[in-house]
Amino acid sequence: MQRTLAIIKPDAIRNNYQGKIIDHLLDKGLRIVAAELTWLTTEDAREFYAVHKERPFYDDLVEFMTSGPCMPMVLEHENAVSYFREVIGTTNPEEADEGTVRKLYAESLQNNAIHGSDSPENAQKEIAFFFSARDIIS
Ligand code: CMP
Repeated sequence: MQRTLAIIKPDAIRNNYQGKIIDHLLDKGLRIVAAELTWLTTEDAREFYAVHKERPFYDDLVEFMTSGPCMPMVLEHENAVSYFREVIGTTNPEEADEGTVRKLYAESLQNNAIHGSDSPENAQKEIAFFFSARDIIS
């Protein structure tokens, strides 16, 4: 079993989609082994998305991610990183496959409802950003 980090983003929480999204993930066989409701500080968001700091959308992304509460979660599944990225769909919801989380619930390219780690290495780093070992059930 592999683990990945998901974040239900502030747009989805504002739209009250968190319950529907969690149901969707459970229906897809993903196991939630840690979860929290939090409100990122600017410092947190800048650090979490540091890999994008040279990109033109970085400041807007940080502002969006700190605009309201979000829900980081650790999900478990066989090949969780790639499987979860299939379940959520492409970054841009307009290009996402029908039935994916972003197609169903995202507002825009930036406000795209949910985050998923892009590699097993990043998943480990991103999980450690939000959760310690004792927060994660086995
Ligand atoms: P995520 O997969 O969480 O990782 C980086 C985020 O930056 C992405 O989702 C979007 O929220 C945002 N993003 C990526 N590309 C763009 C873009 N071209 N314009 C605006 N926001 C973007």
